[in-house]
Amino acid sequence: MKVIKAKDYEDLSRKAANIISAQVIIKPDSVLGLATGSTPLGIYRQLIEWYKKGDIDFSDVTTINLDEYRGLSPGNDQSYHYFMQENFFRYVNVPKDRIHIPDGEDPDSDRACRDYDVIIKKAGGIDLQLLGIGRDGHIGFNEPGAAFGLETHCVDLAESTMAANARFFGDKDKVPRQAYTMGIKSIMQAKKVLMVASGREKAEIIRDAILGPVTPQVPASILQMHPDFTLVIEREAASLI
Ligand code: F6R
Repeated sequence: MKVIKAKDYEDLSRKAANIISAQVIIKPDSVLGLATGSTPLGIYRQLIEWYKKGDIDFSDVTTINLDEYRGLSPGNDQSYHYFMQENFFRYVNVPKDRIHIPDGEDPDSDRACRDYDVIIKKAGGIDLQLLGIGRDGHIGFNEPGAAFGLETHCVDLAESTMAANARFFGDKDKVPRQAYTMGIKSIMQAKKVLMVASGREKAEIIRDAILGPVTPQVPASILQMHPDFTLVIEREAASLI
């Protein structure tokens, strides 16, 4: 495990974007595993800036996102399709047919998840997987207790996750109850994993994930076992390690 400390969020975003950029320069046809959430936003902004300057080219890149709410259409402004489009894809040149996000609209969850695993395998696996971390240690939608051996699967969202997301949907009843997510096994099969964490509210879980025992109760703790895991962490989030 490599731990790279950043002095603030801007620095974290630049350092993580540099790692992604280096990956794409060294292997232009890289398969990038991407994440939503607030932490990667600065990375996407930085990559867009470098793309506009002509410093990075995504024309041979394939992207595979971690997760999507079940039942939301790509046009729904709370879907992860929408998030990725608005915060990254509309500004860069990843070819449309190489952008992959689980199909939240597929009502057949077994098929949706199986198809996604086929996509990952056909792409040759993920070269670099970007991850955030939830305050309870979740990665993707793999919440505490999730089995380490799963690939893409459908999860029931925890009541606490639905309650936390209610603010985005205006009404708790509108919050999707399920999501499709890559499993821990899918994430661990990525050749490299890059996790980003920012803010004092992540300090405890980072300490547990990095220094504590490897346990399904802290899903991110499994990353201690990954052969090429890099954590880029801002000072406040790193305050307990
Ligand atoms: C995002 C995802 C989530 C987030 C996590 C942290 O696709 O799967 O696991 O990475 O909830 O989110 P932020 O960065 O908003 O703290």
